[in-house]
Amino acid sequence: MTGKVYLIGAGPGDPDLLTVRALHLLQGADVVVHDRLVSPEIMDLVPAATRRVAVGKAAGCHPVPQDRINRILIDLGASGLVVARLKGGDPGIFGRGGEEAEELTAAGIPWEYVPGITAAQGAAAAAGIPLTHRGLTTGLRYVTGHRAGDAALDLDWASLADPGTTLAVYMGAANMAEISARLMGQGMPADLPVLAVSQATTPRERRLRGTLSGIAALLAENPMPAPVLFIIGHVAALESPAHLPLIPQAACPALAACLP
Ligand SMILES: C[S@@+](CC[C@H](N)C(=O)[O-])C[C@H]1O[C@@H](n2cnc3c(N)ncnc32)[C@H](O)[C@@H]1O
Repeated sequence: MTGKVYLIGAGPGDPDLLTVRALHLLQGADVVVHDRLVSPEIMDLVPAATRRVAVGKAAGCHPVPQDRINRILIDLGASGLVVARLKGGDPGIFGRGGEEAEELTAAGIPWEYVPGITAAQGAAAAAGIPLTHRGLTTGLRYVTGHRAGDAALDLDWASLADPGTTLAVYMGAANMAEISARLMGQGMPADLPVLAVSQATTPRERRLRGTLSGIAALLAENPMPAPVLFIIGHVAALESPAHLPLIPQAACPALAACLP
């Protein structure tokens, strides 16, 4: 009998931001296959007796290759198990959920997406800012700040350089100097507000506020532990007094080398 694989979004970290459906599936699954962005607080909700397979990290901090993850999911599904494939944020936003779904379809394994709150939403809410705001922004774009295999960042900089659109930059910590320079090169104002949020919605959250021209240097002076998300745009200045920036501790560990 064939099982089923649920591609589940775990949200940005706070267990209260899991959907009810995700929680039910986690508690009923035969096996949980989880990646490195799933917070320990969420993993604590998995019943102790449930089998767990960690695919986000292996010895030396190298992620398990995607084709190996696909094989694990197919084999578990083919053996009749209900599999909770748990990913940080939303499985369909920079989460490679689409690739896993394609492989499962090709192997004839039933699967289903269970959406999660993406990091940009979690980080913005934790900082008390909206991602769009009437009169300030007309849109929002989710952008990757990292390319597979450290390939060049060949983004469409001209189209991204719109101060009326909020940019939520994922995986951008290592490339923020280039990203900000490219955007300013296309006319984005140097003083455009930027908010960097590390480990958003977890007890370890840190926030850093700067400008487009200054954010890379600020980050170099105040390293933030991964994962870090950047919100670039006028909305980043709307942070309410109740959510004042949390200045990173001087002793913050350096960005984990293996995380973008
Ligand atoms: C591979 S992407 C996964 C995105 C995920 N699927 C989502 O929807 O949030 C990893 C990037 O997401 C962002 N990210 C994920 N969780 C985060 C968190 N709790 N705080 C800050 N950034 C986060 C960071 O930019 C990180 O480099």
